[in-house]
Amino acid sequence: MPPENPLPPGGTEAEPPTAHSRRTFIAASAVGGAVAVAGPSLPGSEPAAAAADATGALNSRVSLTVNGTRQTVTVDNRTSLLDLRREHFELPGTKKGCDAGACGACTVLVDGRRVNGCLTLAVRLDGAQVTTIEGLTPRDDGPLHPLQQAFVDQDAFQCGYCTPGQIMSGVGCLKEGHTGSPEEIREWMSGNICRCGCYVKIVKAIQQAGS
Ligand code: FES
Ligand code: FES
Repeated sequence: MPPENPLPPGGTEAEPPTAHSRRTFIAASAVGGAVAVAGPSLPGSEPAAAAADATGALNSRVSLTVNGTRQTVTVDNRTSLLDLRREHFELPGTKKGCDAGACGACTVLVDGRRVNGCLTLAVRLDGAQVTTIEGLTPRDDGPLHPLQQAFVDQDAFQCGYCTPGQIMSGVGCLKEGHTGSPEEIREWMSGNICRCGCYVKIVKAIQQAGS
């Protein structure tokens, strides 16, 4: 039976065919020379207005809520959510792996759905709610999120590079209800690569948090 959730098996959210992907947006900007308005925002949000700076680069003003705090920034239209987090908001928890949508290291939640930050243009996020690994728990000294604790309990990491993305994707997997069996978890987490091969323990951690 096909999955009810629109996410592809194991992967983070794919861009709809009609939406501007990072690549098509950049290509269109390069070919067109100038674009009056940035690509479409997420449903329910206003498109960000674009303006060229002194160097001719197109910038847009974007307001979004990151880990519960409203943020407004002016960014180059080519900026990905991954770079927005790491370079503008100093939230480097989830990592830059492939920067091409293939590894899941950059996974965060946007309006509750897991996405690859490297494939998501910041200008599309006007009005969005973004949750990063830093925002999973309300306080730095507070208890860990149940899935973070499960990763510790199950020793579900080695080098730890993929771990923030695995946890954010796991949180999405739990919310979506794709935790009925190890096979189902593996399928719906298959977009997150662990080069240390901790998959068995990662699945156990998600099972623990979902039980
Ligand atoms: Fe985004 Fe690899 S860095 S999927
Ligand atoms: Fe090293 Fe996953 S723990 S890449």
